[in-house]
Amino acid sequence: MKYITIISLTLSILINNVLGQEEDIIKYRKNIMKAVGNHISIIAANLKGKVDINSDILPHSNALYLSLAAIDIDKTFPEGTSNTSGLKTKSLPIIWSDKKAFRESMKVSTEKAKALVIAAEGGNRQDIGKALGALGKTCGNCHNKFREKKN
Ligand code: HEC
Repeated sequence: MKYITIISLTLSILINNVLGQEEDIIKYRKNIMKAVGNHISIIAANLKGKVDINSDILPHSNALYLSLAAIDIDKTFPEGTSNTSGLKTKSLPIIWSDKKAFRESMKVSTEKAKALVIAAEGGNRQDIGKALGALGKTCGNCHNKFREKKN
């Protein structure tokens, strides 16, 4: 009896640790996505003239690019963290079943983010707007395929 209690206690600690780690990584990747989304909002606010702090466009374009480029897909989207795991995530199982397409989608988005940096360095607002629009499409393309739809 005592052993069973010890074993089940150990098991539950182990399970909690694993689940805890999964919850942490899900929060972590959402934070990366939110950060990326916030950089876009900051750039867009300037382009739309809601604020006039245009000196922020280049640094936030850089931050956005670096944040996307740095994503380590295997570590950020580990096995067992899809929306079928019961955890609070919108990541669809197809991320893991079609990892190649997911990687490719991230690569395309990263390239568009790089193009945004180049446009921001050039300083032409129209070019920046176009580059931001093109980048936004790549975010949407990935979300359409790999993220659970909002209701
Ligand atoms: C290669 C795929 C991919 C690309 C590219 C991508 N995302 Fe995401 N994004 C995801 C996935 C998957 C989720 C769901 C994460 C989860 O719930 O585990 C997500 C979630 C989000 C969220 C919600 C975070 C939350 O709090 O739940 C935001 C905001 C977001 N992405 C913004 C962006 C923006 C902006 C871009 C483009 C600059 C972008 N994403 C590019 C895959 C991608």
